[in-house]
Amino acid sequence: MTPIDILIMAAGKGTRMKSRLPKVLQRLAGRPLLHHVLDQAAHLQARSAIVITGHGATEVEAATAIAARVEATFDLQFVRQEPQLGTGHAVQQAVPHLREDGTVVVLSGDVPLTRPSTLRALVDACAGERLALLTVELADPTGYGRIVRGADGAVRGIVEHKDASEAQRAITEVYSGIMAVPARLLAPWLALLTNDNAQGEYYLTDIVAMAVADGLPVAAHRISDALQVAGVNSPLQLAELERAHQLRQAQALMEQGVRLADPARFDLRDDARTGARAALVCGQDVEIDVGCIFTGRVELGEGVQIGAHCCIANASIGAGAIVHPYTHIDGEKLGARVGEGALIGPYARLRPGAQLGREVHIGNFVEVKNSTLADGAKANHLAYLGDASVGERVNYGAGSITANYDGANKHRTVIEADVHIGSNCVLVAPVTIGAGATVGGGSTITKDVPAGALGVARGKQVSIADWHRPAKQPKP
Ligand code: UD1
Ligand code: CA
Repeated sequence: MTPIDILIMAAGKGTRMKSRLPKVLQRLAGRPLLHHVLDQAAHLQARSAIVITGHGATEVEAATAIAARVEATFDLQFVRQEPQLGTGHAVQQAVPHLREDGTVVVLSGDVPLTRPSTLRALVDACAGERLALLTVELADPTGYGRIVRGADGAVRGIVEHKDASEAQRAITEVYSGIMAVPARLLAPWLALLTNDNAQGEYYLTDIVAMAVADGLPVAAHRISDALQVAGVNSPLQLAELERAHQLRQAQALMEQGVRLADPARFDLRDDARTGARAALVCGQDVEIDVGCIFTGRVELGEGVQIGAHCCIANASIGAGAIVHPYTHIDGEKLGARVGEGALIGPYARLRPGAQLGREVHIGNFVEVKNSTLADGAKANHLAYLGDASVGERVNYGAGSITANYDGANKHRTVIEADVHIGSNCVLVAPVTIGAGATVGGGSTITKDVPAGALGVARGKQVSIADWHRPAKQPKP
């Protein structure tokens, strides 16, 4: 098999994005467009990938080199194109870095949704010896290069929209911007390019007529799914491709049996903060209501139910757990774990290092950070647990908090099994509440409470009999 070398054009400016960020670094499903394209190189088991950069080159190269170092299975190089004199000129910059024995697959850094099977078919059509074009039928071909065929149906050339005659503009089969070509043929053709055309650019597409003139057959692999070759030029197009990509992911999950209330209201993204790839791993009979956003790697055990509008990142939810609406779970780098049969939310917040055992209950407006809750522990209302170890069956009252931060350092709170913490308590860490102890409501606890004891720390209630409230003075 001929080795594959990928060439990705990413020098363009992307003016219509109106953004400081170079276009190919704009994110689709949390992942830069260019990285989606680099994934294609991995799918094709490419030997190497060359990215042609220009506008924002330093930024594009830095953002891509880091990601590639972590996961690439191929050699990655960057070649600068300055100034940008057209797609043919872009490919010319890469020629000195191409190896003669390879098949070059030309891709665009702003076309993220091409299916690996499509590129595979294109490479097969090239067969290591022909120029092969990926073409697509478009109802409105305005702006694209048209595929000009002879009377016998064979491809004769590509004519750019601006250079096309009225008759040629009526052609609806267009060049997608993606081709496969043997490297040894490419270099001599590129050397012959001129910029004698409507845009004064060196058109890569002019090599098609050169191949024909050399008596070489040109293959066209025609697809009908325009999405696969759609580029991003504006925020609107980016959003359209985002929805299309999310729908694909939703459909794949539904094929596995996951029940999404609405595949059009589902999002699964890479985690840009941690670099974690999007992965939603579901057991059987998982149900996900509308408007949920999953980020990074999320595992949902058998029978898990996720209510509407939850955001869940880098977390694992055990079998049978129910996450009620508007819950925010974010494990960031540390991860977050919800035990089997747990009940979370509505309006709960689990932060990095939240480790909940089986059948734990976390209710509305409860925040848990870097804390372990053993099986059956409950914090049902308006509470904070930070840097705490909570034993089995503990009941943590409404409005209670761990004061884990003294302004300089964080300290741990240990609450042993079967403890009952009343409402509105402050547990000033470091502090330990012994097994089976009770803390009276409204207490500020600064000293350990021994096992089995009642700890109370609050002003004593007094009753003053016959108390007269001040009366309102009559107006003068
Ligand atoms: C190109 C094709 C056209 C095809 C269309 C599909 C040519 C001459 N025309 O047109 O037949 O239908 O794509 O979208 O190839 N780029 C560089 N350096 C440059 C110029 C462009 O890196 O000097 C990059 C751009 O950033 C972009 C890609 O190449 O990623 C395509 O360039 P663009 O200007 O969009 O080409 P089109 O005019 O759309
Ligand atoms: Ca384009």
